[in-house]
Amino acid sequence: MEIVIVGSGGREYSIGLALQKECRIDGIYFYPGNGATSKLGKNIDFANYQEFVDFALTQRIGLVIIGPEAPLVEGLADMLRENGILVFGPSAKAARLEGSKAYMKEFAKTYGIPTARFIQTQDYVESCKFIESLNLPIVVKADGLCAGKGVIIAQSYEEAKNAAKEMLEGKSFGDSGKTIVIEEFLDGFELSVFAMCDGKDFIVLPAAQDHKRLLDYDKGPNTGGMGAYAPAPLATPEILKEVESTIIIPTLEGMEKEGNPFSGTLFCGIMVVKNKPYLLEFNVRFGDPECEVLMPLFKEGLLDCFLACARGDLNKVRFELESKFCVGVVVASKDYPYKSSEKEKITIEDLEDNVQSHISFAGVSKKEEDLLASGGRVLVCVGKGENVQDALQKAYKRVESVKFKGMQYRKDIAYQALKK
Ligand code: AMP
Ligand code: GLY
Repeated sequence: MEIVIVGSGGREYSIGLALQKECRIDGIYFYPGNGATSKLGKNIDFANYQEFVDFALTQRIGLVIIGPEAPLVEGLADMLRENGILVFGPSAKAARLEGSKAYMKEFAKTYGIPTARFIQTQDYVESCKFIESLNLPIVVKADGLCAGKGVIIAQSYEEAKNAAKEMLEGKSFGDSGKTIVIEEFLDGFELSVFAMCDGKDFIVLPAAQDHKRLLDYDKGPNTGGMGAYAPAPLATPEILKEVESTIIIPTLEGMEKEGNPFSGTLFCGIMVVKNKPYLLEFNVRFGDPECEVLMPLFKEGLLDCFLACARGDLNKVRFELESKFCVGVVVASKDYPYKSSEKEKITIEDLEDNVQSHISFAGVSKKEEDLLASGGRVLVCVGKGENVQDALQKAYKRVESVKFKGMQYRKDIAYQALKK
């Protein structure tokens, strides 16, 4: 079978790397891929989605896995399904769980899913009234997709009102901010919980923790994520059970009731407050870099899980996870996340220990035989070990083997798991 992975980041590279081991796969295409995915398979590109669908039909592609949110929200999964192509990823209507925060919050309210108290509005006066009723800090969110930047945690009433005003006037996030969500601040620890779903059934993967801020000790601006690890020991079996019963199950039931059954990855951004999980956000895809630390934990059955989600027969699937830990350290370019950086040549020293650590490549391009860091998050060094500490050492050893001008990374990934 030939498959296509849609996307160009470290997430898509890590899926390709994990699936490469499956003997049933004869070839992997990456649409559009990056400068390193061309080593795992073949990069392809098209002028529009219709051309891609035509390619998938002609080539008799056995499965398409859609990595990022944008093609999902734009309806790529629907186009493929309408043409009888198996696809892992939700329909555009189901992808609204990520594409519209107002929709997601109203959905949570309707189905009794625990989440921060909120209003969604397009009106400044109503915003101010609600802001004044809350304690500080106050969370103001743009409704639509903003590449992870549409959330303001305001430390004063004035800041919250200004954030609301700028969003509503379209100044900060364009049309994405014309509807806003204002909500109370939840104080606890965050977890990323991933459920692979087929519309009805689901499997929950080990919980991960992301590191959103640029700098050590959670300082600096928010980023797409500077590192992750899994399983997170903070996610006790009790908390995970509660995430299933109060968040995942009501969501799948609710989506089915609304006529938009959810298949693909339901990524639950959770805040645990006094041992109780609250839903902060949904994403409808794997997290990046969380995916890079989850894929290597599959011992067997990853392809079957993707296929079963796409076909709707997850209840029959067999898979096995390793009882190990993975830590991923993101190595980013010099000016990330502020602006793009100049391309720099990457050199990587060979390490003997290939099995226990590896690199997932993201923002890289090729120039003849050279691999160039082409900006943003360039690559993720992943270590696998018997415990978090062991995996961490292997990940950082891999980081030391990488050199390019201006590279930056956090030195404290997984600190939450090592706190006594
Ligand atoms: P979101 O994109 O909605 O997950 O928000 C991005 C980040 O903002 C989250 O990962 C949290 O760190 C933070 N955040 C969002 N909503 C809240 C909230 N209600 N209380 C505390 N922190 C929040
Ligand atoms: N790492 C968080 C995300 O992918 O949204």
